[in-house]
Amino acid sequence: MTKIDDVRSFWENNPLWTGESVHPAGSIPFFEEHREVYMADCFGGGFDLRFLPPPRPMGQAMSVLDLGCGIGFWVSEFAMRGLSNLDAADLTEQALAITAKRLEAYGLKANLSLQNAEKMTFPDHTFDHVNCQGVIHHTPDTNATVAEIARVLKPGGTASISVYYRNPILRLWPYVRWLGWPLAKLGGGLKGRGREKIFLESNVDEIVRLYDGIENPIGKSYTREQFLSMLEKHFIVQETYLHFFPARALPFQLSAGLHRWLDKHLGFMIYATLKKPCAV
Ligand SMILES: C[S@@+](CC[C@H](N)C(=O)[O-])C[C@H]1O[C@@H](n2cnc3c(N)ncnc32)[C@H](O)[C@@H]1O
Repeated sequence: MTKIDDVRSFWENNPLWTGESVHPAGSIPFFEEHREVYMADCFGGGFDLRFLPPPRPMGQAMSVLDLGCGIGFWVSEFAMRGLSNLDAADLTEQALAITAKRLEAYGLKANLSLQNAEKMTFPDHTFDHVNCQGVIHHTPDTNATVAEIARVLKPGGTASISVYYRNPILRLWPYVRWLGWPLAKLGGGLKGRGREKIFLESNVDEIVRLYDGIENPIGKSYTREQFLSMLEKHFIVQETYLHFFPARALPFQLSAGLHRWLDKHLGFMIYATLKKPCAV
């Protein structure tokens, strides 16, 4: 079984967006480029307001944790939208260093801490909301991480969690994988991190792992049923929805409308809006 140290080592050496960007990690052009690509490829063109924690009654403070903060996209988006009392945590020093630069570059504030999401140092019932996007499928003990998110949430608190979705394209890939050859021949693929030949891969689990880099030790994908059965042990699932169609990997341009449609109906990530039961 992959160890947490292998995960830490990979992400220390390959923070998100490094290897693909032409700009130095932590520079303003790096952050601007990342935000632009994220908005297009992760949300089909615009930030989805369902990612925001539900508003609390007037005057009631809200504490939010962005778990597995990577290079600080989410915590910055939250801070820019007026949320204060923000924490961001990651397994790696590099992620925290880049997040600190991102916050500083835009005059934003958050408490940063090194944490293993499988076993956090926060006391029980610390946060009103936990945001955890694209993280739990990269850690060896995903179930323990979901339980930890529930533990650090206050009763009645909320969370937004996402994982790679085993969408119809991935499920059908064994039958249509020949399509990968013309796509690769025409120049399709992802730049950097050893992912140029991703379209030539026939094993679906390998495609999922390879998406974050050839040396990535873990990348798991889930059907909606598998995702729900993992979450329902700890949460009331209020909504699930899809996003994430990395059109930049294609050798041709998609129209904005088609990209939005694919993002919504054939997205490669599934997001869940969750509530921790009040009586626990
Ligand atoms: C794909 S990136 C996602 C970053 C960010 N959430 C985003 O959506 O932009 C995955 C991040 O999860 C972090 N990570 C993986 N396993 C973790 C764990 N057990 N505890 C905390 N962070 C973890 C990695 O260090 C990396 O920064």
